[in-house]
Amino acid sequence: MSASMQNTSVIFVWYLFKTICVIYNQSYSHWKRLTKKEIDSHIIDALNQNINYYDSLKMGIPGSHLDQREFAADSKVLDGSTFLKTLINNPNHIGVHTDTDLSEPYFAGTQKLEAQVIKIISDDILKAQPDTVDGYVSSGGTEGNIQAIWVYRNLYNETFKLNMDYSSIAILCSEDAHYSMDKAANLLNIKQCKVAVEKDTRVINQEHLKKQLTLLKHQGIDKLILVVNMMTTMYGSVDSLDDYMDIIAQFASMTVKVHVDGAYGGFFLPFTHPDQPLTFEDERIDSFTLDAHKMLQAPYGTGIFVIRKGLLKYSLTDSAQYVAGMDCTLVGSRSGANAISIYKILMNYGPYDWAERMLALAQRTLRLKNQLEQWNVKMIHFDGSNIIAIHRDFVTTDLVLKYGLVPDNHNNPEWLKIVVMDHVKGDKIIQFLQDFKAQLPV
Ligand SMILES: Cc1ncc(COP(=O)(O)O)c(C=O)c1O
Repeated sequence: MSASMQNTSVIFVWYLFKTICVIYNQSYSHWKRLTKKEIDSHIIDALNQNINYYDSLKMGIPGSHLDQREFAADSKVLDGSTFLKTLINNPNHIGVHTDTDLSEPYFAGTQKLEAQVIKIISDDILKAQPDTVDGYVSSGGTEGNIQAIWVYRNLYNETFKLNMDYSSIAILCSEDAHYSMDKAANLLNIKQCKVAVEKDTRVINQEHLKKQLTLLKHQGIDKLILVVNMMTTMYGSVDSLDDYMDIIAQFASMTVKVHVDGAYGGFFLPFTHPDQPLTFEDERIDSFTLDAHKMLQAPYGTGIFVIRKGLLKYSLTDSAQYVAGMDCTLVGSRSGANAISIYKILMNYGPYDWAERMLALAQRTLRLKNQLEQWNVKMIHFDGSNIIAIHRDFVTTDLVLKYGLVPDNHNNPEWLKIVVMDHVKGDKIIQFLQDFKAQLPV
C-alpha cells in the first residue's frame, strides 16, 4: 500500500470512529432493533386487527384477499413469511395513517405499523419534534416529489387567492435534480427553473442562480417551490440549502416552500454524515421524499413522503367521499404489504446496525476511489457516498458495457457512474480494478 493510500485509510478509520460515536450518542424514540419473533408477532397482531375477508360479513368495499386459486392462503410458501402473509391478506392503505382522523378503519392494524415506520423516519432519522409530521408510503420517489409540489402549488393557490392561475409559481432546482421535477412541472402546469452547477463539484452556481431569479422576477414569478437534493442520482451530491436561501433573500418579496428530495440519500446520508443539516430541525424545510426501494432494498413501491402537519390538507380531494377519513395522496389504493416490508427491514437492523451497514458501503466505495486516485483518474465522488462518476476519457466502451456503468446522458456521456450497492462486493471491485488497469494507456 502506498503512503498516500495509508493516509486516506487512517483518515477514514478516524471518520468512521467519529461517525459511529455520533450515531451511538443519538437517541432514537421509535426505532429499536427487534428479534425476528417480536417483529413477526407484531405483524400477526396487526393482521388480526384488520378485516378478515374469509369470515367477515362486510360487503361494501371493492376489495378482498388475493385470488385464492393463484395465491392460496394455506400455501406452504407463506410459512415463516409475515410479508407474504400480509400480501395475501391484501390490506389497502389508501389515505394517510399518521393521524387518527385520517384512516380507513378496516385495515387499522397494519396501518398502525405504517404510522410507526413514518415516525421512525420523521422523528428518528429526520429529527422532527414528536407528532409534528404526517406521511405515507408512496409508490416511489417520483410520487413523493410530485406530491410535495402539488401540496405547495395548492397552498399558494389558496393563500394568495390565485384562482388556479399558476403563472406566478415556479419549481426551482438544480440541473442535477431528478427528472420527476420536470414531470411535476408538466402535470401541475407550473414553470420550472433549473440552476446550473459547477461541473466538477456539482455545487450550484451562485451567479447563475442570481440570473435565473432575476429572470423569474421579470416574468412575474414570486412564489418558489425549492427542491433541494439530498444525494443526486448521478453524483451523490448534496445541495446546501443556505446556498439557495442566501441568494433568494436578496430578492425581496420572494416566497419559498422547501422540499428535500432524499429519494437516494434519505436512508444513507443521515448515517454516513449524522450531523448533516437537511432535517426537520431546519424550520425552512417542510417535506422530504425518501425511497426504501433503493438503499433499504425493500420491494419496489416503497417510497416515503413526509411533511409537516397541517399541510396535507392542501392536497385533499373533497370528492373522495367514499374513503373514510380523507385521501390527500396522489396514489389512492396501495398495498399495506409495502409498509410491512419497510417495517421488517428497519426493525431487523435497528439504527446502529443500519448505520454500520451504510458505513460499510461508504468504506468499500472509498477503497475503489483511493485506487482510482492513484491512477490519476478524473472522477466525482462525495465524501461518505457510495457513488463514483468516472470521466469518459478514462473508460473504454468495453469496460462500460461489461460492468454496466450508467452514463449521465445516453446521447453524449461525459460521466459514467458506479454505485456500490450491497451486491457490489470487494471481489467484484477488485475484478473491476484489474480490468480498469488493463485498459489504461501505458
Ligand atoms: C434523487 C432521486 N429522486 C427521485 C427519484 C425517483 O424515484 P423513483 O424511481 O422511485 O420514482 C430517484 C430515482 O432514481 C432519485 O435518484
